[in-house]
Amino acid sequence: MKYFGKTALLLCFIYITSAAKLKHTNKEFNQNRSFPADFLFGAATAAFQVEGGWNQGGRGWSMWDYHIETDSTFIFDGTTHEVAADSYNQYKRDVGLLKELGVNVYRFSVSWPRILPLGTPDYVNPEGIAYYNNLIDELLANGITPMITIYHWDLPLRLAELGGWLNEDIATWLGDYARVVYQNFGDRVKTWLTINEPFIICSLGHAFGKHAPRIESPSEGFYECGRNVLLAHARMYHIYYDEFKSQGGKVGVILNCDMAFPSTDSQDDAEAAEDYLVFTLGQYAHPIYSPQGNYPQRLIDRVGNASALEGYKQSRLRPFTPEQINYIRGTSDFFGLNHYSSYYVYRNDSLKDSFVVPSFEGDLYIGTYTDPDWTTESSMWIYGFAPGLYNLLLHIKKEYNDPTIYITENGSVDKLGFYDEDKVAYFRGYLNAVLDALEEGVDVRMYTAWSLMDTFEWDYGYLMRMGLYQLDTDDPNRPVFPRKSALVYKEIIRSRIIDPNYNPEPNDL
Ligand code: NOJ
Repeated sequence: MKYFGKTALLLCFIYITSAAKLKHTNKEFNQNRSFPADFLFGAATAAFQVEGGWNQGGRGWSMWDYHIETDSTFIFDGTTHEVAADSYNQYKRDVGLLKELGVNVYRFSVSWPRILPLGTPDYVNPEGIAYYNNLIDELLANGITPMITIYHWDLPLRLAELGGWLNEDIATWLGDYARVVYQNFGDRVKTWLTINEPFIICSLGHAFGKHAPRIESPSEGFYECGRNVLLAHARMYHIYYDEFKSQGGKVGVILNCDMAFPSTDSQDDAEAAEDYLVFTLGQYAHPIYSPQGNYPQRLIDRVGNASALEGYKQSRLRPFTPEQINYIRGTSDFFGLNHYSSYYVYRNDSLKDSFVVPSFEGDLYIGTYTDPDWTTESSMWIYGFAPGLYNLLLHIKKEYNDPTIYITENGSVDKLGFYDEDKVAYFRGYLNAVLDALEEGVDVRMYTAWSLMDTFEWDYGYLMRMGLYQLDTDDPNRPVFPRKSALVYKEIIRSRIIDPNYNPEPNDL
């Protein structure tokens, strides 16, 4: 599991040899089946990862700017976000790439500190507003539907200094910011993604200290962050429906989840797999999508019991009030899903002493490992196993009352150069899994590939190249080149089928 403790990971690899492998296969590629005519294909990016222009146009600092600019050891490869893909200056190039791919939608995020340099609407930066107006207009002029993530991790520094995600006022701050976004762009943008990946915001940012704001609070910080994310998301949703309903758009959250398969057919391992989904997905999905709202009972019980054993008078998972439960329930018009990897999981006595106490990992209490076949030369933390997506989609359908699902991110990493064969295989396999899920009646309507071009991959800098287009980060003009995956994706979009034998060469675009 990417985000979990090193000890657990070590145990994983010892355990793998004795694991009973379960079979989870997808169907063979079959060119007789195709994506429905109204199925939407897209590509995705996020402002901080592609815009650059970090000190242009009146942009303020986010918490990421602060940590990158003040600690040269923060980003693994020593690179920065300052220029990135230069999309702030080259948005017309980006739209040209999207047009070349033939996508229906472009998922991008609005930079909070570019629009509100101080975080609050006391000052709205006209150059920031103009930038997104230009981008939206350019997309529409080229027949591409804009889809906006309102919060993709670049919290304004000033608000981070006031406690950020650990201050309940974050719901007010995000709501006020969302209002500015709806006011300025809602006449043309009809799909809103409120917050990207609560689990990653709270685990990497507030439990493990790997992402800004680099807080290491694996129990209370993690749970408080999640609670505030849910309240903030709900406020963004309600503001839209209370004040902007006439714009006629849709609003939803993006949750990320990897898939967990039980290592053996033991009851303990089955429960470990269930709890993995409860902690990483259910914690955020259940309060929004379940008919009764609130955290999943399994989460409440596990954290409550562990807290009691540790001598706490109250659960480390602070309960919602009945008013809050009602306020959050039902606040998503679709299920936005980011998905990348799969794991085998187990639970047994070997895990004793593996976790920090108290911590959410200790509460969850599972071991994880991956199959070596799911790793590639450059995959870093991505363990690609397409049946994971198929099984996860079925889980969401069953657990959350058959929601409309938008796959807002999926993709992989590869070495530099045109022939990104591992990534091509990844995209084909995962899109084939989507076809399998469609045949089972899962209501998936959209797939946006991560990512349009190589992006600044947070703490990994440029170590992870995930773009359909390769970005030349050595050239100040930041030229981009299509990879094989771009051509393959383009052909899938055009033909609506997956042809495993389509084998384009660089000049075939
Ligand atoms: C998660 C995030 O939404 C995105 O910002 C990141 O680059 C990709 N997935 C890959 O890690």
